[in-house]
Amino acid sequence: MNVMTKPETTHARAVVKAPALSPDAIAKPDLISVEAAKAMDLAMMTDLFKAHLNPGQLHFMKLLGFHKVKVESAEGMFYVDQNGRKILDFFGGFGSLAFGHNHPRILEARKKFQDEKRHEIAIAFMSQYAAALAHNLARCSPGNLDMVFLGSSGSEAMEAAIKVAERAAGPKRPKIVYAENSFHGKTKGVLSITDGQLYRGEFKLTDNTVRVPFADIDAVEAAFKSDPAIGVIVLETIQGGGGIVQAPAEYWQKLRALCDQYGVLWVADEVQCGLGRSGRFYAFEHYGVVPDVTALAKSLGGGKSAVGAMIASREVYMKAYGTPKTAMIHAAATFGGIGEASITAIEALNVLYDEGLIDNAAATGGYLLERLHALQAKHPKIIKDVRGKGFMIGLEFHDFSQTLPMVLRPIVSVLDDKLKGSLSGFVGALLLRDYDVLVAFTEYNRNVIRLEPPLICQSEHVDRFVDALDSLLSRGIVSIVKDFVKSQVK
Ligand SMILES: Cc1ncc(COP(=O)(O)O)c(C=O)c1O
Repeated sequence: MNVMTKPETTHARAVVKAPALSPDAIAKPDLISVEAAKAMDLAMMTDLFKAHLNPGQLHFMKLLGFHKVKVESAEGMFYVDQNGRKILDFFGGFGSLAFGHNHPRILEARKKFQDEKRHEIAIAFMSQYAAALAHNLARCSPGNLDMVFLGSSGSEAMEAAIKVAERAAGPKRPKIVYAENSFHGKTKGVLSITDGQLYRGEFKLTDNTVRVPFADIDAVEAAFKSDPAIGVIVLETIQGGGGIVQAPAEYWQKLRALCDQYGVLWVADEVQCGLGRSGRFYAFEHYGVVPDVTALAKSLGGGKSAVGAMIASREVYMKAYGTPKTAMIHAAATFGGIGEASITAIEALNVLYDEGLIDNAAATGGYLLERLHALQAKHPKIIKDVRGKGFMIGLEFHDFSQTLPMVLRPIVSVLDDKLKGSLSGFVGALLLRDYDVLVAFTEYNRNVIRLEPPLICQSEHVDRFVDALDSLLSRGIVSIVKDFVKSQVK
């Protein structure tokens, strides 16, 4: 058939046949199909990860034994690996899995959307899905946090947050205060307010920033007082990457008062701690205060979709982008508010309330905290601190690099620098290997394990997790290190 000839159509259904390829048609590269991807074995996954994704990262996966897992499916609180092993997920994708894996209502909503051949991209038109999602987010948000920008990641939501705030603050007040040990994403703009040297690398970042210690209200006040060019302050309500660090209620109340006094806009990053994880929809709701701008992502996508949202007060938004002339300065990007992502987030928000997941985070998260405090009392030489709210809990180990017997120190020191002195790497690796439990590590404090299970987590999951940890810690530090070292030579 001539390539230019229109295919025959019927009134019932047009069947478009692919044109026969001419001998000089562009040859299909050697592509892997979806079926072949599913069937890929660990050796090939490792080769391709090394060749095309991140060879350096593989090194860490090997240290922790994570490279031996091929996830075949996931449901609720569990991953299932290639051997049918069920792995209890207390990592929760750093807070991305509030609904657990493959929540049936979220799957159903997506399937229906696909079956009905609903549209995804509506850049030229308004989208009923984006409109409904923005409405729902405004309803979930206190005060006048009414205006929503939709994107595809936490970084994008935070970029939108600092941009809307910077424009609303005005050109005479371009400086942004951020906190020590903050994490707001890795895209170039928010990298300037992300504290980790590892991520900042040697990039040329914007220099309109002022860094203050987290949870230190005097430092905030001193900064506001001394520099009238400060227009914005950005803070995670609970620091995640910093190792689950909280500030007391008085801090937030004083912060709100100082922001009002000095005319500074407060941006609350709730990408990790928001959406019910702390036992309230937003963590800042524990303190009876409302920021000027906030951001959500991670669990907003229901564990199935990439969705981020910036939510600003109407006043801030209108100042920044409220006129036809300014409206397009930061309008949605290509995938902002696309169909299936939006309906996934709409269903996720409905499930959050219908299933009482915020209440469960408060109650069952409280039980987890209680059991961990009891574990700390049992292993005081190993566990230094237990802290957090709801299902956002940090477990800090004592740094044992100096207390380890001399014979073990050289062996441990040949292990990666990142794990040196840090029990959390050893504990995490052995929890997975021996107890089928997955936990998360912490960027800025290698002694902290982060526990962010799905909000569907029940007390039996808590018991299973704490019993596993208890059994592991009861081996004692020397055995844990020896077992870890043995796992490296196998
Ligand atoms: C508090 C916080 N803000 C922003 C981000 C960036 O989100 P994303 O990885 O989706 O870009 C993260 C990610 O971990 C985060 O924890």
